[in-house]
Formats: sequence, C-alpha cells, structure tokens
Amino acid sequence: MESYKIQQHKFDVVVVGAGGAGLRATFGMAEKGLQTACITKVFPTRSHTVAAQGGIAAALGNMGEDDWRFHFYDTIKGSDWLADQDAVEFMCREALNAIPELEHYGVPFSRTEDGHIYQRPFGGMTTHYGEGTAQRTCAAADRTGHALLHTLYQQALKHQAQFFIEYFATDLIFDEEGVCRGVLALDLNEGTLHFFRGQSVVLATGGYGRAYFSCTGAHTCTGDGGGMVLRAGLALQDMEFVQFHPTGIYGAGCLITEGVRGEGGYLTNSKGERFMERYAPHAKDLASRDVVSRAMTIEMREGRGLGEHQDHLHLNLMHLGTDVIHERLPGITETARIFSGVDVSKQPIPVLPTVHYDMGGIPTNLFGEVVQRKGDNPDSVVPGLFAIGEAACVSVHGGNRLGSNSLLDIVVFGRSAAKRCAELIQPGASHKDLPNSVLDQALQRFDTVRYAKGDTPTAQIRLAMQRTMQRDAAVFRTEKTLKEGCGNIHKVFSSFEDVHVTDRSLVWNSDLVETLELANLLPQAVATMYSAEQRTESRGAHAREDFPDRDDTNWLKHTLVKVDAVGAAAFDSRPVHMHTMTDEVDVVPLKKRVY
Ligand code: FUM
Repeated sequence: MESYKIQQHKFDVVVVGAGGAGLRATFGMAEKGLQTACITKVFPTRSHTVAAQGGIAAALGNMGEDDWRFHFYDTIKGSDWLADQDAVEFMCREALNAIPELEHYGVPFSRTEDGHIYQRPFGGMTTHYGEGTAQRTCAAADRTGHALLHTLYQQALKHQAQFFIEYFATDLIFDEEGVCRGVLALDLNEGTLHFFRGQSVVLATGGYGRAYFSCTGAHTCTGDGGGMVLRAGLALQDMEFVQFHPTGIYGAGCLITEGVRGEGGYLTNSKGERFMERYAPHAKDLASRDVVSRAMTIEMREGRGLGEHQDHLHLNLMHLGTDVIHERLPGITETARIFSGVDVSKQPIPVLPTVHYDMGGIPTNLFGEVVQRKGDNPDSVVPGLFAIGEAACVSVHGGNRLGSNSLLDIVVFGRSAAKRCAELIQPGASHKDLPNSVLDQALQRFDTVRYAKGDTPTAQIRLAMQRTMQRDAAVFRTEKTLKEGCGNIHKVFSSFEDVHVTDRSLVWNSDLVETLELANLLPQAVATMYSAEQRTESRGAHAREDFPDRDDTNWLKHTLVKVDAVGAAAFDSRPVHMHTMTDEVDVVPLKKRVY
C-alpha cells in the first residue's frame, strides 16, 4: 500500500453532500454553534437539487382548501402503504413551518395576485381524503430547486459553515466499537487525502439514478453514501422501489416537470387520445407517477406509441397559452427547445417514463439517525452516523413518492438532523484518540481502485450495468426478467475485478473518480435487482406482472438488504410503522389504491 500523507481535520459535524438536504443540515448545525464541515464533490449550487423544477409540497391552502391531514393521507396512499405513518405525519405537519421559514430565508417563490405563495396541483394530491384536487405544490416558476439551493447555500455561508468543495468522500471510518468517527476524502484539486473527524457524519449524498441508462439525474448522482454504507457492512432499505417519472424528454432523459400537467398539460398517444382517462378516470394525468408511467408503458407496448419504434408519447401544453407558459414554465420551455428541438407553444414534447428517484436508501429514524437491526430491535441507532434526503429512507415515500414531496423531505429532515446533532454534541468537545490503523482498510481499498490493472475500461462496465438495470429492473418486472437480471448484474459486478484505471494520478483524475463512483453504484444496482426479485407482489413503483396485486399479508414490510464484497445479497426486514405520532390524525387503513 502506498504511504499517503493524510491531513486531519476536526469538526463537530461533517456533512457529506451540498444539495438541499446537506445545506439545510449544514447551516442548521452551524446556526446552533456546531463547527460544521460540508464536503462536496461538486460546487454546492451545482448539486442536483438545482434541477428540481415543479415545487415543494405543503398544505398552506393559499389557492383553495387544504389541510396537513389531507397531505398525510395522500402521501400514505401514494406510497401504497409502505411509508411509515409516524414519519409522514412528522413531515406533513413540519411542512407548514418549513415553507414560511424558506420564504424568510429568501426563496423567491412565485406569487398569487394577492401576494401569497403560488401553489399548483401535483399528482395524487387531493382534498378531503381523495375527493377534490389540492393545489399544494409551492413553486418558484419551474425552477424551484434552483431557487431553494441558492438560498440555502447563502444561509450556510452566512452562518460560517466551512466548505470543502470538490472533495470526493471515499469511505466512512468507524472505530472498533462501531461508532462512526469520520470520513476519508480526496481533494480533487490538490490530489491530497484528508481524514475529516466528526462527532457525527451526515450523509446527504443523493440518489443512485446513474445505475440506470436513462435518468433525469445528473451524472453525479452515483449514490456515494449508499455505496459507503454497504461497504461498511450495513443494510439499505426498500431498494426495489425506483421511481420512473412519466415525462423525461425522449432520447435525452431531461426532466419535464409534472408541473406541466399541474398547469393543465396532458399526455396523448399516436391516435391523439388522452389515454390517462382510461387508467385513472378521476385523477387522469395527475394520478401518481407510478400509475402514469405504467399506463404510458402499456400504451407503447400495445402499439400506440409514437415514432418509428412507437417508443414515446406526447406531452401537450400548446393550449395553455404563451402567458402561462412564459410565467409558470419558462425553464422547461428552454429545456424542450434545446433537448428536443420543440417550441412548446406550437408542438407537443416527446416524452417517456424515465428513472427519477430512489424511494429506498439508508434506513433512518425521524431525526436522520441511521438505524439497523440489533437483535430484536430493527431500529437500533448506529452511533455517529446520519443520513438525509434521497440518500436516506426514513421512510416517508414508501413504494412511490408523490411529486414535490422530495424538496419537502430534504428541508424537513435536514433541519431535523441539525436539531438532533445540536442535542447530542457539545460544541468543541474533544475527539476520541484513534490508532493510525483506523484508516487502513479505507486506504487499502482506495489503492486497489487506483492501481486497478485489469483489462476492462470503467465506461464499459458502467454501460453494462446501466443497460442491465434499464432492461431487467424496469417499470414492469417479472420473475423471468428479474432472475435474468440478477444473473446479469452479478456478472457485471464481478467484472469490476477486471477494471482498468488508466490514469493513476490524484489531481483532477476523472478516470479514478468515475471508477470510485462506479464502485458505489454497482452494489446498489445489485441491491435493487435482488430486492425486486425477492418481493413477490406489486406495490407502488414495484410492478410485478406475475404478482399483480399488493400482498399485505406477506409483504407489508420494508426490505433490508446487505451486499457483500463479492456481490452477494442478504435479506432481512423491518415492520412498517402503522401508527401515527399523535392522536391528531388517524392511521390511514389499508385499502385498494385507485385514482
Ligand atoms: O416533476 C417535477 O417537477 C419533479 C418534482 C419532484 O420529483 O418532486
């Protein structure tokens, strides 16, 4: 092993990731007097939250009747009853404080005529427990994530959090008692290695959408936190639940916000039919995303898709008029022009369901503390380790997330983690002495990747993984596709032993970083495929054609999965919390989910 000079830094808290969740946690901790480091592989305002478009959910009732209990009900139903009901109660109630707080911090929300925050309808959002349509999604035109991310970054700077920008976190560091003590990271600029000590480490590393070939996520969405957690021998939760957003641009994958349908846009097939009327007679184009993506897939399969290969559909918004398009949807107007050559005021946008969000992730409690099974207790806290945002699985989204609940999730649980750290950590407390050997395993692994001398280029393995996931863990799944998928993804995983890293330098070495990212993606791809294979029911985004119904008798439980160094998956489960936090809302009882 090469002997590296490691620079050591000591902080009260180390946050990994500077998207919305990471920044909300970072400044929340700094505000409470904790010395906080935020390590990020990209400049904070380039984090993927910047691409969130349609908005953030909260039952403010600015545009008609609403109630946080309606939001709670819709979220549980949207999740197909896999979400933990206490966590959903927490999130939907907190939303009412979170939005005014964001407004106060400076998020430039769009406004109604009378000056209130503008809210648009989004899929699966109703009033009176499924009756009317709720306008619940608070928007800053169709650039809400951009507005939010910039505001949160400004707050973090204001509270003097310390940023380590373009540092790639390689591994979590635990002591011999299993307490997380910090993280090893590579400074991409200088090519130096750093050990960030923290009383707590908060993973806010986002999703692993890039395990798939076509996704709305940035190329940076490589689930680095999930990869580190699996390598540490810990379990991930509900990895079979991957959301396909109905309207990714055909061929490019870029997101076209659900806000288009919220503003009155609709989907059509090659016959010009508004086909969603057949699949969701009540909610139509504003049914939940899993329902719309399945309907679109059926339309294309049955020969009503567009184009030579009948492999896409049309999203129409011409009828909305240039005023609405200009005021409410300026971002997607530009995106559609650039990526599909379409003038949205005159032509429909070619779209197809595209991987968008991971409902699964690192299991946590309401405070963002990572939990694992210890004996009979499935919710035992891993000391020193937190996870928030898309990297985490609280679980507030269960089997299917409702649109605009993810921006809410990141601010609510980012804030909650900050609060918890402030309760647990004494600012400036001394750090436990650790032997030098504590870094050995992480450095050894780093070296193995850096000096990988196989014959297969990183890009070739990555492409094989992405094609396998796209084909075998798709919108619809069967035992055949999943069994084949398990074999295929295992083969791809094993091929990493033969990876070839061309460039061994440490400064701005994209070959090395992409290989480290691939090492994070691969076990999560394995976890997804194997978890999907073992869940023999259909629930939310996990649609098994051979098991078309939800099976609450056998499967009302969270999947826990570990993936070892040779790519073998091992399963366990956690019960779904079918209880609320307070008696101010009733548990939503199990029933059939129709829109
Ligand atoms: O469609 C959208 O604007 C995406 C929002 C979300 O995923 O929450």
